[in-house]
Amino acid sequence: MTTRSLVASERVRPATRRLGPLVTILSVGVLMAACQPEFEHSVVPQPASVEAGSGAFTLTADTRIVPGSPEDPLLRELAEVWAAPFGDGIGLPVAVGADGEIILALDPGAAGVGPEGYRLEVTRDGVTIVGADHAGVFYGLQTLSQFMPPGAETGAVADGGVEIPAVTIVDEPRFSYRGMHLDVARHFFGPDFVKRYIDVLARYKINRFHWHLTEDQGWRIEIDAYPRLTEVAAWRDQTQIGHGSEPFNGDGQRYGGYYTKDEIRDIVDYAESRFVTIIPEIEMPGHATAAIAAYPELSCHGEPVEVAMTWGVFEDIYCPTEETFEFLETVLAEVIELFPGEYVHIGGDEAPKTQWEESGFVQDLMVREGLREVEQVQGYFIRRIERFLNERGRRLIGWDEILEGGLAPNATVMSWRGTLGGIEASRMGHEVIMTPYSHLYFDYYQSEDREDEPFAIGGFLPLDTVYGYEPIPGPLRDRDAARIIGAQANVWTEYMKTPEHVEYMLLPRMLALSEVVWSAPEQKDYADFLRRLGWHLDRFKALGVNYRPLDESGTAEPSNDP
Ligand code: ACM
Repeated sequence: MTTRSLVASERVRPATRRLGPLVTILSVGVLMAACQPEFEHSVVPQPASVEAGSGAFTLTADTRIVPGSPEDPLLRELAEVWAAPFGDGIGLPVAVGADGEIILALDPGAAGVGPEGYRLEVTRDGVTIVGADHAGVFYGLQTLSQFMPPGAETGAVADGGVEIPAVTIVDEPRFSYRGMHLDVARHFFGPDFVKRYIDVLARYKINRFHWHLTEDQGWRIEIDAYPRLTEVAAWRDQTQIGHGSEPFNGDGQRYGGYYTKDEIRDIVDYAESRFVTIIPEIEMPGHATAAIAAYPELSCHGEPVEVAMTWGVFEDIYCPTEETFEFLETVLAEVIELFPGEYVHIGGDEAPKTQWEESGFVQDLMVREGLREVEQVQGYFIRRIERFLNERGRRLIGWDEILEGGLAPNATVMSWRGTLGGIEASRMGHEVIMTPYSHLYFDYYQSEDREDEPFAIGGFLPLDTVYGYEPIPGPLRDRDAARIIGAQANVWTEYMKTPEHVEYMLLPRMLALSEVVWSAPEQKDYADFLRRLGWHLDRFKALGVNYRPLDESGTAEPSNDP
């Protein structure tokens, strides 16, 4: 059983309970607002400011987009990316030129917003989107989509055009890091689904995709220098059934897969044109059984091992030898070549030190390096890897266990075991991404009635708990709080074998996350979020994207059939 599955069995309280006074203030606000005619819209995440105009713009097959000046090919490209799905629905072609009704422009000053912000104005005559940068224009277009019928992207719109109400929206994100993770190692998801996943992220202004590429149970990225990673480490003989048992009960089916470098380049380009930066994760020193199965010399014992067929935490970890560093640095050099983003995630979680304690090599290393405890060997390990990455202009992210052996000087910490690691790291001057299992582990059940849900690792994480999450912990002073650069939800796939199941666990919880990381806290209102959600569930239905349906309370009506 993993640490994670142990903590998974703890029940968590919806964070909204802690927001009691705020909820009261919001309720009074809602009552006051109820006396005036409300302008209802369905935009998720909730924008910073929405002001209704009068009348509406009718978008027809003749509507043209004017993507800025011809000298800005990126604006044209993002207009095309946005408009392509509407081609069948409302026959919206993209035309470049001085004439048109949807005008896209770039103006950092005039938009009146920070990075990734935009100003969207709809009048009877047309639509203008001014972005502080290209991402801002892209997000303005995403918001515009949400004023169309839910089926507009799939051809489910009648002739005669689409009415878009006159409105002015000024909007910008709260956090610069708005992340979603996907574990493709426990179960493998091919390039088409990864793109589909990125599509869903981008529609909701999520801008980081943390791609968990290596694990005990499978290595998923082609590395030229080490062919056995894809010949051997990408495949396991079989997979445990259920939560596992003693003796082992497996499904008897060989399982695996990996992404070729060409597939990865294609996905990186795809994500980039949707303003999603991919953060690849190469796990070390733990969760490395698959790599060690391919190259046994990477462990301290050097004995043959198998790619793991069960879930959990494994003792076969990389030995901190020069041979291992040469291996990892060669792997990372190839990874850096594929991924242009500044961050590389190196894992660092759940690495038992038993084999290091038993290793004469590690004992000598500790004497040589003046390391008193074996935990400090992990600090030595991560600092060496950080130096390698920093020298190549990249920055290291690690799970919060990297705090334990002495933190690498420039590391960004991903706080998953709660928020204490994040608090400590931010006070030490490190950037932090919050991803506590209590609020952001999307592998947890969505109902207390587990029998009615698809089989999961454990836990209980309903929509309102995600929605109520506040990434800045109360005790932090402003200077330290500013180092919390955002939050991320994680999708660990031990028990998710199909894309449909991943979507079921992702949605609609990811929409709650989008509001946590994009919207200002004073703009959040769970009841209104639930009302707006209806449009989005209809959109997912039209797009053929699976999701967990709501019930009246907004949390149940479970399905066993993801
Ligand atoms: C983790 O869930 N082990 C980061």
